Amino acid sequence: MVVNVTKICCIGAGYVGGPTCAVIALKCPQIQVTIVDLNKARIDAWNSPDFQLPIYEPGLEDVVRKARGRNLFFSTDVDKAIQEADLIFVSVNTPTKKAGVGAGFAADLNYVELATRQIARVANSSKIVVEKSTVPCRTAESMRTILEANSKPNVRFDILSNPEFLAEGTAINDLFAPDRVLIGSLQSAEGKAACAALTNVYANWVPKERILNVGLWSSELSKLAANAMLAQRISSINALSAICEATGANIDEVANAVGYDSRVGPKFLKASVGFGGSCFQKDILNLVYLSESLHLPEVAAYWRQVVDMNEYQKRRFSQTVVDTLFNTITGKRIAVLGFAFKADTGDTRESAAITLIKNFHSERALINVYDPKVEHAQIWQDLTEVVPGSTAESLKKTITISPSALEACKNVEAVIIATEWSEFKTIDWQKVYDGMNKPAFVFDGRLLVDAEKLRKIGFKVTTIGRGERL
Ligand code: UDX
Ligand code: UDX
Ligand code: ADP
Repeated sequence: MVVNVTKICCIGAGYVGGPTCAVIALKCPQIQVTIVDLNKARIDAWNSPDFQLPIYEPGLEDVVRKARGRNLFFSTDVDKAIQEADLIFVSVNTPTKKAGVGAGFAADLNYVELATRQIARVANSSKIVVEKSTVPCRTAESMRTILEANSKPNVRFDILSNPEFLAEGTAINDLFAPDRVLIGSLQSAEGKAACAALTNVYANWVPKERILNVGLWSSELSKLAANAMLAQRISSINALSAICEATGANIDEVANAVGYDSRVGPKFLKASVGFGGSCFQKDILNLVYLSESLHLPEVAAYWRQVVDMNEYQKRRFSQTVVDTLFNTITGKRIAVLGFAFKADTGDTRESAAITLIKNFHSERALINVYDPKVEHAQIWQDLTEVVPGSTAESLKKTITISPSALEACKNVEAVIIATEWSEFKTIDWQKVYDGMNKPAFVFDGRLLVDAEKLRKIGFKVTTIGRGERL
């Protein structure tokens, strides 16, 4: 049984496993941390001599520079890393199932299962196995069943759930100073001992009172609950933004007034064109599926509405653009500023910008896209996935990726702000105006720019959640 962790293996070098275990290595120089992945290109990027890391995250490069080669290693040799480790994080992807039972809702646990089977097959000493990926309730139980059914004699596995709450764009700060670290374990003596071993790892830099020890199922459900409630706040504020637009109220004033109530709190109340990211929608759909499987249809319907409202918000915003541009955008050129699902990340998973562009494309608009961080290949991949029967070549007839915001806005009828990159606040809006067809429309889907300032230049401005228009 493992009591003192000296070697950690992390299976999965993605958005969660990479930054999390890099920070553990930085903060625990006495522990050897090896992050492994099947994807060689990804591992090569983590190992690249000039630190061209596979994900963009402020502060991450600095962490990797300090720890890589000291006690932080990246490798494709999964078996060796499993064998050497006392503690293994399973941090593989858990996308929404695309086919079979629960398609479109349930999490696809294939990768978790394969990783678990691999651990059982190759481990020849006892391990603590930590479920890090967001998974439906009771996955730990399935992992335990697989491990116990396949383990060698004298090899013991203790399972912990340790969901990650970091947000992209602020991952390093979130990891350095987490609101809490949640560790779920069986309440047996062995479960508690495993929990203590992982607690000691985090205690190297996280205050003890922020490390919460709970039961396995509570831990698993808390992750889904936290994301569902965060997403629900955004859907609530977005629902109110529609009322604001219809009445002349101002959503920022409403959010501010509501947020002053300490029971509600001021954070995460920014109206937007809709939430994106790999977690919110996936986790809510997971919760919907779980509720349905538990024969709780009212609960399922309640949570499903959070996702429905998000779809509505994206549709509503697209429709406002069409309505305002005199009911048609066919053949009109428009600029979409931002493609990532939020600022300070190159990640595009479930980004609202994808839906907007899909909608504009179906109206036969000509579209210029600009994002400071997203790779061009990623943009084409995301768009071909949502436009049925398209290829990058076919899309290039009407969609252009621009090298700068200014370039994207040249000769367009309208500018749409889809991601809250701060550079869109400070671009030379006079220059943008001079280069645009008139009337020059701006649609601010992120409450980012100073509408009054833009109106003084001559723009017709529509801001999400503001009654006053143009
Ligand atoms: C989220 C959770 O915040 C994090 O705790 C969890 O571990 C993973 O999922 P992430 O998806 O990286 O993190 O980003 P987040 O900052 O939560 O933003 C999600 C989406 O909501 C983005 O599209 C963002 O633009 C949007 N958002 C966020 C709003 O529209 N308004 C807000 O007030 C906050
Ligand atoms: C509420 C608002 O709190 C107050 O700001 C507003 O001015 C009037 O409406 P009130 O109805 O007096 O005040 O009581 P409140 O403490 O908000 O509780 C309302 C109901 O919610 C009660 O039945 C309470 O038992 C229940 N509640 C409250 C819960 O079930 N769980 C909670 O965590 C909090
Ligand atoms: P997340 O956002 O949850 O971190 P990512 O998709 O960014 O998800 O990363 C998950 C990583 O896990 C991918 O790079 C994938 O190649 C890797 N992976 C999946 N299954 C295995 C496995 N059995 N062994 C090693 N790596 C795996």
